[in-house]
Amino acid sequence: MAVKYRKELDSISPYVPGKPIDDVKRELGLDRVIKLASNENPLGFSSSVREAVIRALDEVNLYPDGNATLLKEKIAEKYGVTPEEVLPTCGSDEMVDLIAKTFIDQGSEVVLAEVTFPRYFSTSQMMGADLKIVPMKDMAYDIEGFKKVITPETRLVWLCNPNNPTGSFFTRGELIELLEFISPETLVVYDEAYYEFADHPDYPKDSVELAKEYKNMLVMKTLSKAYGIAGLRIGFTIGDPVLLGLINRIRNPFNVTMLSQAAAVAALDDDEFLVRIIENNQAGKYYLYEEFDKMGLEYVKTEANHIAFNAGKDGGLVFQELLQRGVIIRPIGGEKYRTWLRVSIGTMEENREFIRALQEVLA
Ligand SMILES: Cc1ncc(COP(=O)(O)O)c(C=O)c1O
Repeated sequence: MAVKYRKELDSISPYVPGKPIDDVKRELGLDRVIKLASNENPLGFSSSVREAVIRALDEVNLYPDGNATLLKEKIAEKYGVTPEEVLPTCGSDEMVDLIAKTFIDQGSEVVLAEVTFPRYFSTSQMMGADLKIVPMKDMAYDIEGFKKVITPETRLVWLCNPNNPTGSFFTRGELIELLEFISPETLVVYDEAYYEFADHPDYPKDSVELAKEYKNMLVMKTLSKAYGIAGLRIGFTIGDPVLLGLINRIRNPFNVTMLSQAAAVAALDDDEFLVRIIENNQAGKYYLYEEFDKMGLEYVKTEANHIAFNAGKDGGLVFQELLQRGVIIRPIGGEKYRTWLRVSIGTMEENREFIRALQEVLA
């Protein structure tokens, strides 16, 4: 007799992370491999983070501060909120999970885009949600499409802006239109993991201010992307203390390590580092646009640190052939987007290597 498990798991596939560099080197016998597959920071992290982590190491015999007091204060100061309006987690991944567990019941209506961050699907499915999926419009969120599907009964709406994996964004006006349309009893999860890279004048840079006005909106942020500390697993959410208080009831008491808390405090202070990261991303983005144009490839203009492009050939095959040449990227997946892939913007050298390999593969 087999051990029984929750039937919801039958429809959930495990998350497939970007392939690690060492695995690819070993499997293919390659000396040099570049990874442009997980939207990581190609320039590393601030030197002040290294110092903060080394200092914090002296105390790892103790449990971390379960309330992450100093970190909450730092975030509150930076974003003009109170510490009660902040909740740090072990990456924003953990927050996606906690939100699903806190707010979704069996059969709850949950609305999300067709091509977006995959954890929204799996965590909602895990809780038995009734998923309402909004098709993409030209590889971007279709705000009118969201309005057609959202009802007063909707429990939760997942929004990712800029979106992963398409890099597309929706405007401040569209966000407000949605927030006005959505019932105050529906939770709006607004994930801005790539916020720091967005510079379009219509991108909502004041989302935290909007969350003060629309109390049903939670703003999720991460230090894994622009701040470059993905390996330390730290993200945070800003919003109404009542909502955060509910989530806090089921949070593991020591979910954010002492090293991560110290690193995050240091990282959030280093604006100079962030400027370099954003400059590199901009330069890489325009270089890739130019090269895609020369190759006649369709792509989506990005406000993030990754670009979705249409290789015009099976994405899985293109992925494999790039791998043979030591370049790891990611197919978007799904039958409808079979020929689409996502590449993270790297250093200029990495971007050039990727383009050289892609030219070979598509020749
Ligand atoms: C949109 C989005 N949200 C959340 C995450 C998770 O980030 P974290 O490393 O903070 O768990 C990612 C990571 O790729 C992402 O793309």
